[in-house]
Amino acid sequence: MKAWLIDDFKGVGGLRLAEAPNPIPLPDEVILQVNHAALNPADRYLAENLYPAKPRLPHILGRDGVGLVVEVGNGVTGVHVGDRRAILRGQVGGNRSGTFAQRVAVPAQDLVEIPAGWSEPEAAGATLVYLTAYQALTMWGPLPSPAVVLVTGASGGVGVAAVQLAVAMGHKVLSLSRNPEKSRRLTQLGASATFNPEDSRWRQAAKTLLEPRRVDLAIDNIGGKLLPEVIDTLGEQGRVSLVGRLAGPVPSFNTATLFFRRIRLGGVAVDGWTNAESRAAWQQIVELLARAGARPQVDKVFPFDQLPQAFERLERGPMGKVLLAVRSSNS
Ligand SMILES: NC(=O)c1ccc[n+]([C@@H]2O[C@H](COP(=O)([O-])OP(=O)(O)OC[C@H]3O[C@@H](n4cnc5c(N)ncnc54)[C@H](OP(=O)(O)O)[C@@H]3O)[C@@H](O)[C@H]2O)c1
Repeated sequence: MKAWLIDDFKGVGGLRLAEAPNPIPLPDEVILQVNHAALNPADRYLAENLYPAKPRLPHILGRDGVGLVVEVGNGVTGVHVGDRRAILRGQVGGNRSGTFAQRVAVPAQDLVEIPAGWSEPEAAGATLVYLTAYQALTMWGPLPSPAVVLVTGASGGVGVAAVQLAVAMGHKVLSLSRNPEKSRRLTQLGASATFNPEDSRWRQAAKTLLEPRRVDLAIDNIGGKLLPEVIDTLGEQGRVSLVGRLAGPVPSFNTATLFFRRIRLGGVAVDGWTNAESRAAWQQIVELLARAGARPQVDKVFPFDQLPQAFERLERGPMGKVLLAVRSSNS
């Protein structure tokens, strides 16, 4: 089969398209012929040795995808050759080979059906980011109803998922994006207002809009110097679900900003959930999106041989998910 390989941990610049052995299913595994795979910043972090997973080299990246079941291993029940399935979560693309390949071996328990009415690309990019967003929204227990939720990096994979799920839960959503066109799209997805984090007046504008309330929960995909500004917008007992750090390390800030409003910060780890927890969350996500009439947002689908260009697109900042059409290479 053809696969995109990395031979070291020096980054996605070293990706090469090459022949690799077809995977063989172990007991309780299936082989998917990959139709669509989705990119995540985690792929880049893993390739740069900035991720907990340390797979054997050469390694195939790619956490997410949808494909056709072409082989089943011993002991597999409930999944058959000819079924189409999405990968929910697990070690695929982390400590085991991923979806940037024509075929991938996946533990059968890590597969889910494609939700009714979703296209393959929509399903291929959804699982990791919606599970992450759902964890970020629910990890603190019940929120005020309705809560004010602020989402940073809102146009990205996790950001769009967080906006849609928070809206579907009935919360008031404020989002941050540096791009006017994407800000317009976020409003269409249900955000009450979108601010540009590069405009020094964004915090005051958000506070004025919310007066006399403040933000109850911030979902932060960005980190860097934005985090202290996000904390400033929180109200009494405000919480921050820390998801990502696309803007790098957070500069030193005064921890007294946390004391008086009893603010809590907590890390999100989508890989920290058990299979059962992920499945239960996924069921809630699909139901919430169906009730709200919301669907995953696909930014762009690249041909299989353009993975480096797809990573460039992801780095520039997408509107939803960046995908790879792997099936096109199978024909
Ligand atoms: N903790 C977990 O379990 C978990 C799970 C999944 C992802 N993550 C992490 O969460 C983060 C977001 O993931 P994602 O898939 O949503 O990323 P993404 O699809 O690449 O989107 C991130 C968005 O953030 C904005 N952005 C990027 N760099 C920025 C910067 N330097 N300053 C301000 N805004 C910036 C861009 O929006 P605009 O151009 O519109 O401003 C971009 O569309 C990543 O760090 C990822 O590794 C963590």
